[in-house]
Amino acid sequence: MQLNHFFATRNARMKASEIRELLKLLDQPDIISFAGGIPDPALFPADEFAEAFQAALAPERQAQALQYSVSEGYLPLRQWIVAEMAKIGIVCEADNVLITSGSQQALDYLGKLFLSPGDTALVGWPTYLGALAAFNAYEPRYDRLSLTGNRTAESYTEGAEAAGSAVKFAYLSPDFANPTGETLDRAGRLRLLELADTLDCAVIEDAAYQSLRYDGAPVPPVLALELEQKASIEDCRTVYCGTFSKTLAPGLRIGWAVAAKPVISQMVLLKQAADLHTSSINQMAVHGVAAACFDEHVEQLRAVYQRRRDVMLAALEKHMPEGVAWTRPEGGMFVWMTLPEGVNGADLLARSLETEKVAFVPGQAFFADGSGQNTIRLSFSNSNHTAIEDGIARLGRLLRSA
Ligand SMILES: Cc1ncc(COP(=O)(O)O)c(C=O)c1O
Repeated sequence: MQLNHFFATRNARMKASEIRELLKLLDQPDIISFAGGIPDPALFPADEFAEAFQAALAPERQAQALQYSVSEGYLPLRQWIVAEMAKIGIVCEADNVLITSGSQQALDYLGKLFLSPGDTALVGWPTYLGALAAFNAYEPRYDRLSLTGNRTAESYTEGAEAAGSAVKFAYLSPDFANPTGETLDRAGRLRLLELADTLDCAVIEDAAYQSLRYDGAPVPPVLALELEQKASIEDCRTVYCGTFSKTLAPGLRIGWAVAAKPVISQMVLLKQAADLHTSSINQMAVHGVAAACFDEHVEQLRAVYQRRRDVMLAALEKHMPEGVAWTRPEGGMFVWMTLPEGVNGADLLARSLETEKVAFVPGQAFFADGSGQNTIRLSFSNSNHTAIEDGIARLGRLLRSA
């Protein structure tokens, strides 16, 4: 029985990538992988989680921990997030916060909330692949969000209208973006807000890596800058998406969205339809660990990842041939590399796995228009210094021979 021809049209844009097939090879023990943008498991606060889960399962709390709970999320966790948001200039109440199953779920809900088929979403070229995957299900049209060139607001509107739609939102990850590692400066964030005001569209601020700054001065979140211009969060068009995946542990699947109450209320309805609520016990455990040691833990992560970034940047200086360029991120997990014109990142990966046993992610998948063939993403978060030095030396050798 072949059911494929019954699949809804939205599935046409949801494809497994060839890269995934290649990356399956990563299980081989002799491969040095800069592919996954994942935290180092050795840094998980595992003892603190063991304690927090035990506390959640204590006789007086176990009914709550194991029972269904409200779709909005565990109130003490939402209150903790409210206090944390205030520290970065985002003044909100618990009713402005929805706990999601990872920030990936928030991206899915926001696609569902804003996009009818053919609507325009503005995204970076490149942008986070998982955001494209989440939005693709809602069959949008993409246009390139450009905050540095001289594109006019009208050019976005005209493009959308010609396609019979409207611009619904601009999505970006302003701090240490996945995949580029780049940070949008304050002026760029203000230009974004001005553009969104002119287009009258929402802004989705994906703050997945925001806590992981290693140097340079922090830039206020887009939502914080918007709050400086508006009376309260209820007047703001920015939806902020946070996550504990990069700071505590991704396996718990705890993220959050912060926005004006009508947006959160509608997302709550979407959540009720999708999964009722995020895991009760996981929310309680994350709250326990965050309340006990969030700042100290993040401090420790920053110290370790900063050194790994420095080792990778130094190795790139040493080993990369002429014609290869890369970003110098102030935080996060990624360095983005642009190869000479005509060198294809996917072909390079195939060769690299075969001859040098080094893995990375070819950049093309991060481009909504399929460009970027000569780009690759390297992650430094989950490799030790020796592996980084060795892996980059091998990659340099491969590129010299290419
Ligand atoms: C930019 C960005 N946003 C969102 C996510 C999703 O993370 P999670 O669903 O684990 O919170 C990731 C994960 O890699 C990411 O890189």
